[in-house]
Amino acid sequence: MEIHRLEKIWIAVSLVFIVGLVASIVYGVAGMGVGTVGDTGQQLDPNALEETRFADPGGHWASDDHYVVTVVARQFLFQPGSQEPVMVPANTTVTLYVTSPDVVHGFDVVGTHLNAMVIPGQVTKLTTEFDEPKSYGIVCHEYCGAGHQSMAGQLVVVP
Ligand code: CUA
Repeated sequence: MEIHRLEKIWIAVSLVFIVGLVASIVYGVAGMGVGTVGDTGQQLDPNALEETRFADPGGHWASDDHYVVTVVARQFLFQPGSQEPVMVPANTTVTLYVTSPDVVHGFDVVGTHLNAMVIPGQVTKLTTEFDEPKSYGIVCHEYCGAGHQSMAGQLVVVP
């Protein structure tokens, strides 16, 4: 009888694992889990960026201590970033919103933890703080077409 009781316990433990596994899959498929990006309603029409905050990409102060930058990643440059650097202040909360009008790109600020995919129709949000003036490279690390290897830019942290 003792063994029978242990078997019941093991069956119960197995069921908990199975139910947990199925629940975790359902949770992910249903879109309630940790998404790459844009699972907080941050979706937009990639063909109508001119009607969004990406119409005139660049930086601005959202408040006294919060700097916001919108960046468009497109074949094969970052706007801003490539033709002119992304400029952000040091010792300030910085939020970068990045989107793409064409294909999937990567957004990697080399040497930092800022590293994400950029997906058409989605807004990638990255928040950080730089503690000193410095210049960083930005690279696209998702293959996005013939000019992928030249898709790069610069982020400059100013005092
Ligand atoms: Cu954009 Cu690779």
